[in-house]
Amino acid sequence: MASLSLTQLRGKNSVPEFARTRPRTSWARPGRVGFKVFASSEAQVEPDLGVTVNGLRMPNPFVIGSGPPGTNYTVMKRAFDEGWGAVIAKTVSLDAAKVINVTPRYARLRAGANGSAKGQIIGWENIELISDRPLEIMLKEFKQLKEEYPDRILIASIMEEYDKTAWEELIDRVEQTGIDALEINFSCPHGMPERKMGAAVGQDCALLEEVCGWINAKATVPVWAKMTPNITDITQPARVALGSGCEGISAINTIMSVMGINLNTLHPEPCVEGYSTPGGYSSKAVHPIALAKVMSIAKMMKSEFGDNKDLSLSGIGGVETGGDAAEFILLGADTVQVCTGVMMHGYGLVKKLCAELKDFMKAHNFSSIEDFRGVSLQYFTTHMDLVQRQQEAIKQRKATRKGLQSDKDWTGDGFVKESESMVSN
Ligand SMILES: Cc1cc2nc3c(=O)[nH]c(=O)nc-3n(C[C@H](O)[C@H](O)[C@H](O)COP(=O)(O)O)c2cc1C
Repeated sequence: MASLSLTQLRGKNSVPEFARTRPRTSWARPGRVGFKVFASSEAQVEPDLGVTVNGLRMPNPFVIGSGPPGTNYTVMKRAFDEGWGAVIAKTVSLDAAKVINVTPRYARLRAGANGSAKGQIIGWENIELISDRPLEIMLKEFKQLKEEYPDRILIASIMEEYDKTAWEELIDRVEQTGIDALEINFSCPHGMPERKMGAAVGQDCALLEEVCGWINAKATVPVWAKMTPNITDITQPARVALGSGCEGISAINTIMSVMGINLNTLHPEPCVEGYSTPGGYSSKAVHPIALAKVMSIAKMMKSEFGDNKDLSLSGIGGVETGGDAAEFILLGADTVQVCTGVMMHGYGLVKKLCAELKDFMKAHNFSSIEDFRGVSLQYFTTHMDLVQRQQEAIKQRKATRKGLQSDKDWTGDGFVKESESMVSN
């Protein structure tokens, strides 16, 4: 268990400073000597996507987010084979018999006129519960994966009822498989809260503190607390989780939603025997909301846990491109999770994500993830501060304005000064 700190967020160079101080290499024009053209002798070094988070080394920051892409041995193996930096398995609890799913359990929102069937999918609602597979089987598969991929990072996502003994038993059994870390699901918005699980704990700071205390007293591997966005101020539970000994924060889980009402049948979607229940919203549409939540958490971590070099932050929500991931990292995330993106594009998506993130890094001459982690955080401020900055900038622009705006502005008294104001030397 941990003592972390936010190295990433501290003392970063601003982007413009970087651009000024770090020499470009392969982008430099070839030098010209006589009639011969010599290419620059310095080849641009390929950016390094590797990250070490809470002591766990990952080849890249892309992590399979808990959900369908981490439901069983076959798909988790596929994720490792395709090159994902880490896998977070589907959330497990002690008694899967209590978990009963329904179908259909997904509904999608498409962009375009009247949600045209051809429009791009931008939003995804699910009313899926945590894993409905027996815990013994999931544990066997975790163990097998760790035996076959000892150097790869496998994180178990766990959830239990408000019962200390149950949490302790679950942590003990899951840790025995050799998993590298735990992510605690304090955040599923539907189904489980009816049993005082998931978001029911994440939305109640007193409960959260008590449960985090039990977990951190028992766990021997790093613990990430996964936050729900369905709360007024997400920094409050994040602060409580870190203060109670968690090594990392993951944000966000899905946003409580109703996908829509079928205007022909008048029934809500997803429709199960004519009825529905609010579910969790994910995919591209939630990305801006996730960025805002991650930004708030990162600022809080920086100001309140600033010296603690081992704390980590995992950004989640609507990631489908390397640019989406870069945004989370620029706000201070160490890793970036993807769930719905994998459901839409498959496990091979990681190759595109890595290539696009490298392109972004090359464009800014960043050689490692550390080079730009948290760099954009400094540009967030209050609205009142924006007003003051703008007023000050206008004042300065006016003060330094050169020359007359128009010939009608010449005056008799100030004629010489007005002439001088337009001289270049
Ligand atoms: C179908 C589905 C099932 C999910 N199941 C879980 C789960 O079991 N545990 C969990 O912590 N998060 C679960 N999530 C939430 C995702 O891990 C993620 O936090 C959220 O979907 C936002 O990221 P995304 O836009 O990349 O999907 C699920 C998401 C989806 C779409």
